[in-house]
Amino acid sequence: MQLIDGKKIANELKQEIALEVQQMRAEGKKVPHLATILVGHDGGSETYVAGKLKDCAECGFKSTLIRYENDVTEAELLAQVHALNEDDDVDGFIVQLPLPAHISESNIIEAIDYRKDVDGFHPINVGRMAIGLPCYISATPNGILELFRRYNIETSGKKCVVLGRSNIVGKPMAILMMQKTYPGDATVTVCHSHSHNLVQECQAADIIISAIGQPHFITANMVKEGAVVIDVGTTRVPATDTKSGYKLLGDVKFDEVAPKCAYITPVPGGVGLMTRVALMKNTLLAGKKAIYKD
Ligand code: GUN
Repeated sequence: MQLIDGKKIANELKQEIALEVQQMRAEGKKVPHLATILVGHDGGSETYVAGKLKDCAECGFKSTLIRYENDVTEAELLAQVHALNEDDDVDGFIVQLPLPAHISESNIIEAIDYRKDVDGFHPINVGRMAIGLPCYISATPNGILELFRRYNIETSGKKCVVLGRSNIVGKPMAILMMQKTYPGDATVTVCHSHSHNLVQECQAADIIISAIGQPHFITANMVKEGAVVIDVGTTRVPATDTKSGYKLLGDVKFDEVAPKCAYITPVPGGVGLMTRVALMKNTLLAGKKAIYKD
């Protein structure tokens, strides 16, 4: 069994990005600038955004945080999105999700200029991803592809089961794993809360990518010998033995599943850190106008 070390790979990638930014600075070019809109004070969102700001600093990016209280109107938020679309200094920006229930997430996402949509959530980026055109790929699937690359994990012709069908993880992951490229070229099955034969599908899988958010859902009996198991789950549960007062649990019952695996990601220290660095990669691409020229 080989543990996939997301922390190590994410740090390597961050160093690679920081070097490139140093070079841009040395050449007198503008450094990439990421703006983040954060609404309210949700604990998970606060943690994610703090992590993104720290990553930006480590990569040498400029970053801006724009905060609103929960009572912000959709019109106010749309006006801010339009202002960022027009701001030539901002290369890319994200609106941290979830948003309060009175705001339509899809209205906000569709208002973002797709050329600055470093989250890869805009329908134009999702559509281009689906047909294999250059685009911003959403961070979690992108981070997982990078892990396959860095560990030289074979995916062609493999049976890959994706658990979960969210727009952010499950759906794009399934599409990317079926593309005729590496990583990809797999036979993909998507299972979700209404799948009848989820256990049997997992048992037959060479690769399981689990993004259902149910702690310890994947048990040893569901995993075949030699499988690759990627755990996207990060459920926050209260804990008395951590400084923050909570800990993150994955979807996989790691202790019993790991001995059966060829490769497995831990939680924490696996996919989560790769997700963070994948956003930095997209921001670098945005700063270089590498995907959309103007
Ligand atoms: N909420 C949870 N994950 C994400 C993400 O990757 N981007 C944004 N904008 N919001 C999120």
